[in-house]
Amino acid sequence: MANNKNSNYISIRDSRKILKYNIKQMKYYEGLKKRKLDVKEYTTVLKNENNIIEIENLKTCFFTDNGTVMSVNGVSFDIPKNKIIGVVGESGCGKSVTSLSIMQLVQAPQGQVIEGEIRFNADSLGYDENNQKLAYDIAKMPTKEMYKIRGKDITMIFQEPMTSLNPVFTIGYQLDEVLFIHTPNITKEAAKAHSIEMLKKVGISMPEHVYKSYPHELSGGMRQRVMIAMAIAGSPKLVIADEPTTALDVTIQAQILELLRDIQKKEQCSIMLITHDLGVIAEMADEVVVMYAGRVIERGTVHEIFHNPLHPYTKGLQKSKPLITSDKSEPLYSIPGQVPNPINLPNTCYFKNRCNKVCEKCSGDYPKTIKVSDTHYVSCYLYDESEVE
Ligand SMILES: Nc1ncnc2c1ncn2[C@@H]1O[C@H](COP(=O)(O)OP(=O)(O)OP(=O)(O)O)[C@@H](O)[C@H]1O
Ligand SMILES: [Mg+2]
Repeated sequence: MANNKNSNYISIRDSRKILKYNIKQMKYYEGLKKRKLDVKEYTTVLKNENNIIEIENLKTCFFTDNGTVMSVNGVSFDIPKNKIIGVVGESGCGKSVTSLSIMQLVQAPQGQVIEGEIRFNADSLGYDENNQKLAYDIAKMPTKEMYKIRGKDITMIFQEPMTSLNPVFTIGYQLDEVLFIHTPNITKEAAKAHSIEMLKKVGISMPEHVYKSYPHELSGGMRQRVMIAMAIAGSPKLVIADEPTTALDVTIQAQILELLRDIQKKEQCSIMLITHDLGVIAEMADEVVVMYAGRVIERGTVHEIFHNPLHPYTKGLQKSKPLITSDKSEPLYSIPGQVPNPINLPNTCYFKNRCNKVCEKCSGDYPKTIKVSDTHYVSCYLYDESEVE
């Protein structure tokens, strides 16, 4: 962008150019959201009807004063029904932005989904004339229509329960509200009974008492349980848990994870579990998606990712995990270097400057996704002999 020695330098002229470009882009994408669309225009067909969500080539960016940040840059993966999908990757790699894109909660107008499909398997849509299962494309869905899905069919549990709960309303009030929104005809008494039932389900021992309490009267673990109760109140098909246990201590962390696993089995829903912690993924997930700088660099079943990791980054992540059996005299392995600046990234492998297996081919275009098995995919030149997707 700038010819100055310092690549981060932006001249006033550049800055004006960026601003002009940003305003144009934001107006365009905001305009798209407000259009009146026929249902047909935001329905599409699923690749496999056993998936609850199929994400294909998703690109989400932020139009910032420093340029366009490509937070999610062509991400593709599926979330099958009744499964737990773990999403791992370094801080800033786009895990949260991917989940916020699914919820249509990316901070607008700066943040916009600019390309790709997020196919949501809605039972109500049925099949098309070729007997293919129909799905909503959340990336194109008007905001008004999204209200019907968000909070009911797809819900989210955030990292910090205190900031997600409203401090001035009781737990009961906030739980009942979820039901009033999604089941408008429900009576006050029925909503209260259902909310108390939910609190029991998430293992709260005095549900009637907690129902009348305010968030500050509960411990961190209890608050997170309340958040889980809220998330499952409308019998969702997908729960997105964005680092649900990072703010909790280790024992409570284990309890909450256990609860999530229980809930997933009982409620027959899918969970997209975002975490930094590979241990949590190994314990909980059926399938794993590894992200790096806005891209999926490897995905596979939990067995494939832990027993046969292929990408040098995935291998590095596993080596950098502290083990109780590790030799204490040796320093813990860390991947050298830093995540690249997500503005104006070149179209080459983003990891090559930190990679210990870097070769000549790595200077070429961004590596294609290589299919290693039916479930295992990797984007790395080391494996480009295999069949290309
Ligand atoms: N509102 C925003 N405005 C500008 N850039 C943003 C915004 N939100 C996220 N980003 C950028 O998008 C990229 C991805 O962010 P994201 O929050 O998805 O990371 P993450 O993988 O969830 O990280 P962490 O593990 O720390 O939660 C980062 O480079 C971040 O700076
Ligand atoms: Mg995050």
